[in-house]
Amino acid sequence: MKKISLSCFIAVVALCVFSGCSPKQPENDYTWLKQGIETAALQLKFTVAEIGDSIRLPRSIWTGYDTDFLCHQLDKKQLTDKDSARLKPIHDNLGSRRYCFSIYDWTSGFFPGNLWLAYQLTGDESLRESAVKFTNHLYPLREYKGTHDIGFMMNCSYGNANRLSPADSVRSALIQTADNLCGRFNPEIGCIRSWNFGKWNFPVIIDNMMNLDLLFYATRLTGDDKYKELALTHARTTMKNHFRDDYSSYHVVSYNNDGTVEKKCTHQGKSDASSWARGQAWGLYGYTSCYRESKDVQFLRQAENIASLIMRRVKTEDAVPLWDYDAPDTPQTPRDASAAAITASALIELSTLVEDGQAYMEYAGKLLKSLSSDGYLAKPGTNRGFILMHSTGSLPNGSEIDTPLNYADYYYLEALLRYMQVKEIDYKHI
Ligand code: GLY
Repeated sequence: MKKISLSCFIAVVALCVFSGCSPKQPENDYTWLKQGIETAALQLKFTVAEIGDSIRLPRSIWTGYDTDFLCHQLDKKQLTDKDSARLKPIHDNLGSRRYCFSIYDWTSGFFPGNLWLAYQLTGDESLRESAVKFTNHLYPLREYKGTHDIGFMMNCSYGNANRLSPADSVRSALIQTADNLCGRFNPEIGCIRSWNFGKWNFPVIIDNMMNLDLLFYATRLTGDDKYKELALTHARTTMKNHFRDDYSSYHVVSYNNDGTVEKKCTHQGKSDASSWARGQAWGLYGYTSCYRESKDVQFLRQAENIASLIMRRVKTEDAVPLWDYDAPDTPQTPRDASAAAITASALIELSTLVEDGQAYMEYAGKLLKSLSSDGYLAKPGTNRGFILMHSTGSLPNGSEIDTPLNYADYYYLEALLRYMQVKEIDYKHI
């Protein structure tokens, strides 16, 4: 036995001496990471140049839908009148860049956020200048109260601005937004209201877990625990009502005014009972943040259980999930690169919060390598300037199917940053 080990060792050393490498090289080959960062910087600069002075906010690429395809994905013989009424009209500009309809679009903060993250990754001053310009454009949002998404909109833009280029006006805009988000909290129900549209009495979506980070940040900025306490109450109520026994989650839970549940259903998943891929990723990310901030172990268990569910239920070789974990397992079924990017980012953070996070880090590494491969990473100058291909926004609504999404790019960049921080990789030395 000893003899075999020794001869193996000699063979490895000999191989390394002759090939001029260190034994660890394959594991430490970060060419994929470098390619991801370089592509991101090129794509973002290309997009900024194409937009010119008009300041529009890129969101995705216009896609259409085919009714037979939708029926197959949703396991329905035909679409009901209700389904059909929800379908977004097919845009006559298929294939062109889709912009946010205004700064009040829920995704408006991601493009400025992408510029900030790419600046942080590369140190490229021109990216910082563009980030400032696009972030300033969102300034009126500090007064907006119409959706829970103000957390995404302001934290990804102004939150990153304050981290990388702090200023009093930026800090105040974040605190004002956090106050407005708290204004959507109903103490009887114990949740922040997500949407103002629809027929629900008080809809709360699993995505809302992502907006808690703005409240945690507001507590850090002000020293006032009220933001954090409110966020944790929301997280506890959501833990009680959004999750099934296997830790998969409903997309929408609507409440009656007395705090009882009115309805559990989906808006963007395959069915009310299915596990919508991005929803599971939002939940994982949200409960990881809650544990980071509170050190309450029930949030850690929740995050770990969601992580297990995701890793257990994935059907693809490269781990980039189908748009819904219950979607038909066929080559035609669209994937959701945004869910993969959010999951990767969350798992990297989770790996730092547990005693042995290796399995989470390895899974995140696998996701990031997949996303940085030719299958998902755009070639510079293509993909209308977006970084990643193959995400799915809202398939049951016929919207943004198998297309780039600005938030897939955002969480991909955030995950690259986190990965480099944990592994202590310096971009300049790759
Ligand atoms: N928060 C909306 C979505 O994930 O599509």
